Amino acid sequence: MREITPALAWEQFATRATPRRATNAAGATTWLNWTQYPDHGPDETILGDVSGKRVLELGSGSGSNLAHLATLGARCTGVDIAPSRGAVAEQRWGRGAGLQFVTQDAVDYLRASEDHFDVVISIFGATWFTDPAVLLPLVHQRLAPGGRLVFSHNDQPGNAGERERPIRKWNLAGQRWVDSLLAAGFATATFEIVPPPNADLPGTLLVSATMPSG
Ligand SMILES: C[S@@+](CC[C@H](N)C(=O)[O-])C[C@H]1O[C@@H](n2cnc3c(N)ncnc32)[C@H](O)[C@@H]1O
Repeated sequence: MREITPALAWEQFATRATPRRATNAAGATTWLNWTQYPDHGPDETILGDVSGKRVLELGSGSGSNLAHLATLGARCTGVDIAPSRGAVAEQRWGRGAGLQFVTQDAVDYLRASEDHFDVVISIFGATWFTDPAVLLPLVHQRLAPGGRLVFSHNDQPGNAGERERPIRKWNLAGQRWVDSLLAAGFATATFEIVPPPNADLPGTLLVSATMPSG
């Protein structure tokens, strides 16, 4: 019997993913959404000016959020463990100096990379599905002085290390992320909870950390 690896599980997830709409409510063809709800929550401006910045996304899926940052002049690399995601992203958004996609586990990518990034993002991505004790020090190593990590996932604290074999989620509460980020060497770490559009739904935990300025 074939072992269900995380890559295979995510590939199965990818087959059920619906492509992003052609335009959002404002009529834009690219946009960045930190939450799982359409036209909801903060946009990319929480990252500051990304023009000319080196941006890495961990768990970039079909590349929609990263493609938006590329239109703003960022030099973007997306890493995703599911083999089809990079091809889907390239087909929709193209590939060039400002946008590239890599098929790899985030931990393996960070361990092998010698590049430095100004911004690392992860939107319901690899930061949610990887042991923070392993991932955060690796992100810290690859961020440039003054760089920042920003990521989001469902606000469902209390299920740290919840196991949904073979995929595991780290649903840490905001303060636990802050403590873990400071322990990994980040200079500042903050979080906010973006309320859901409807009280029956989960909110979104949005976590941000900055590197020492060097
Ligand atoms: C819920 S989807 C979110 C995709 C995208 N960030 C978005 O907002 O549309 C999670 C993505 O993370 C990827 N992923 C999960 N674990 C990963 C890992 N360890 N390394 C790299 N990518 C991972 C999955 O393949 C999937 O594409």
